[in-house]
This record gives sequence, C-alpha cells and structure tokens, in this order.
Amino acid sequence: MTSVVKYVLTAAGAFLLTVALTAGGGWTEAVAQTSEPSRFPTGIQGLADGQDEPPSNRWLLGARDDEERFRRLQVYAGGTDQQMWQIGYRYEQVYQAIVDEEWELGGHHWGKLRNVFNVALMKRPNRTPNAERMFLDDTWQLLASALEAGDTAAARDTFLQERQACIVCHVAEGYEFINDAPMFEETAAFPAN
Ligand code: HEC
Repeated sequence: MTSVVKYVLTAAGAFLLTVALTAGGGWTEAVAQTSEPSRFPTGIQGLADGQDEPPSNRWLLGARDDEERFRRLQVYAGGTDQQMWQIGYRYEQVYQAIVDEEWELGGHHWGKLRNVFNVALMKRPNRTPNAERMFLDDTWQLLASALEAGDTAAARDTFLQERQACIVCHVAEGYEFINDAPMFEETAAFPAN
C-alpha cells in the first residue's frame, strides 16, 4: 500500500492529510488529527470563562467549580427534544408490538415512555400542565390497561387515542409540524386482522 502524507494549508491553518492507495487500487483519504491546540467551540457560551486549565477531555472535571460543572451537564442533557426522540422510538415499538400481539414487549416500551416523559418535564416544567392533562394523568393508563389485559381490540383503540394526545399536545405547545413526521402517518390505523 502506498501512503502519501502531506500538509494541507487552509485559512484556519495546516492539517495533516493522509492519502493512501488501497490494495484494490482505490484511493482513500483520511484527515489526521489537527496539530492546532484544542479549543472550546464558539457555539456554547461561557466555557472558556468557566475553567482555568486548557480545554481537554476533562470537560467536567476541568471546570473551575461545581456550578460550572452542573451548568455543563444541563447543556449536555438538553431540552424536551432529547426525551421526545426516545418517546418517538418507543411509540413506534408499541405500535408494532400491538400489531404482533406481543403484550409484554408493548407494556415494556409503554412504561419506559412514561418514565422518560417525566424526565423531560423535570427539565422543562413549563410543559407539565399540558403533558399531564392531555396524556400522563389518565390517558396513558388506557393503553397500559389494554396491554396488560392482552386485549387486541382495546389496545388498538386506545393506541389511537394516545396518538391523538401526542398530536394535540404538539399543536398546543406550538410544535404542530412535528405531526408531519412519518411515524404519525404510519400509525394512523392498524392493518386488518
Ligand atoms: C407536552 C405535550 C406533549 C405530548 C403529550 C407529546 N409531545 Fe412530543 N413534543 C412536545 C414538544 C414541546 C416537542 C418539541 C421539543 C423541542 O424541540 O424542544 C415534541 C417533540 C416531539 C418529537 C420530535 C423530537 C426530536 O427528535 O426533536 C417527537 C418524535 C415526538 N414529540 C413524539 C411524541 C409522541 C410519539 C408522543 C405521544 C406518545 C408525544 N410526542 C407526546 C410535546 C409533547
């Protein structure tokens, strides 16, 4: 294998480019790690002000104090979207479990979905009123009971009610466009038995 290593000059400085000719005759390119010093991203404010040692992999331990460490953890934990991403996945798994009549599997995902929703509300309590009224207080339990009973008709019926709760809350919270995601279209009905 032939390797050519060269420095490439860009506006930002020099970085190392390795171009290797593979056995098959094709070229692969790999950009090697930069020789520039590590630095904090400009996209997150206050990082440089929050520590005395140079930026490194010690992104938490290297911070000046616990105030800054917790602030960084908050940034890392993100907002509602972090949990909704997972809720979307589990929602689809529940739909499939109902199609397959896999009640234990469906119950597992439906329970985790509620837990993770509460984590979102811990971080964004402004969403708690709608979330509890429209979904968590009573509506969530409808499907939980149907799954527990292994009742196909009730599970299908209540799943569609849950879907409606997701959709209505997205509208109420000003995120109507979320409802255009394929997952809501794909779960709008169940195939005939
Ligand atoms: C509080 C009412 C509320 C309920 C109930 C709700 N959502 Fe959401 N959902 C939101 C909000 C608000 C966002 C946007 C969050 C953001 O971007 O910060 C969102 C975003 C999403 C996203 C996009 C996440 C991403 O990748 O950025 C998905 C997927 C989603 N919701 C699925 C669901 C499903 C499935 C249900 C029902 C099981 C549901 N949601 C119920 C409020 C809700």
